[in-house]
Amino acid sequence: HTWCGRAFSLRSTVVAVFPEFRPRRLRGTAAMRRLVSETTLRPRQLILPMFVAEGAAQPRPISSMPGVVQHTRESLRKAAVDAVRAGVGGLMIFGVPQTRDATGSGATDEHGILNVALRDLRAELGDDTVLMADTCLDEFTDHGHCGVLDADGRVDNDATLRVYAEMGVAQAEAGAHMLGPSGMMDGQVGAIREALDDAGHQDTAILAYSAKYASAFYGPFREAVDSQLKGDRKTYQQDPGNAREALREIELDVAEGADAVMIKPALAYLDILRAAAEVSPVPVAAYNISGEYAMVEAAAANGWLDRERTILEVLTSIRRAGADMILTYWAAEAAAWLD
Ligand code: PBG
Repeated sequence: HTWCGRAFSLRSTVVAVFPEFRPRRLRGTAAMRRLVSETTLRPRQLILPMFVAEGAAQPRPISSMPGVVQHTRESLRKAAVDAVRAGVGGLMIFGVPQTRDATGSGATDEHGILNVALRDLRAELGDDTVLMADTCLDEFTDHGHCGVLDADGRVDNDATLRVYAEMGVAQAEAGAHMLGPSGMMDGQVGAIREALDDAGHQDTAILAYSAKYASAFYGPFREAVDSQLKGDRKTYQQDPGNAREALREIELDVAEGADAVMIKPALAYLDILRAAAEVSPVPVAAYNISGEYAMVEAAAANGWLDRERTILEVLTSIRRAGADMILTYWAAEAAAWLD
């Protein structure tokens, strides 16, 4: 042991090395591991994204997301009550309309499926949970883009902001406590904040999808909402190779009035999440998205991964990277395990 038993300096702290220090001491029993565990994972930190389909007679399975369905209004209500009983911190609702048009008019219509479902849930759950709404047009447009198009077929940023503002007010009126603008238009948080305040909804919060990447992992979600998109969202979502602009987006959203910010996807972007958590003055959320869900479910179905252990490790890792809250399709199930 000539090389050990010395002390060396790491980040200006003097640390002992083997055999003085044996890291395994703190791993020897379950009680010891519990005592020194750094990361908590609690049901209240989990938010369940849910889909509700207009005119559905029964819940419809989503083949690339086994276990997740497009709900009917009635099944949504029941599943929401169950999730809240399991202790989840919130519900994020996505609407799947029966008809779509160029401007996504189902999004602003008080009788549109998302607004109707929000009303149902607020009536059922009151303030027992945080009811969140996806504030974006892609489910409602016949071209599948997150905004309205200009004469050349490009997504028109500022025209889209006017629709988001109207959509946000409709959602607040329908009972949403928190809005999740996910379209990555410049200025969307400020436009929605101003419209909410003008309409007397000062208390409706905004969870800004600040850093949302143009990701292949959204594939199963596109099936979940019957997306009409051809092409991609690269003119508004971020390039996976870029880190710096994520922090810039957060800064802008906070300046525009975001109450919390989100990083999405989660697993392939834990570095972005860590960087965001270090600088954000508001709570940070991460979205454990559809493709991340599908990967684990597919591997578990093949017997290649231990499903429960993998899910809990995924969620713990997202927390460890810095997320205060996690949107995950496993929210209700994981909450029940954690309870
Ligand atoms: C767009 C939106 C998307 C997701 C949430 N909101 C998809 C997209 O940008 O194409 C993806 C969520 C998931 O993959 O689980 N409004």
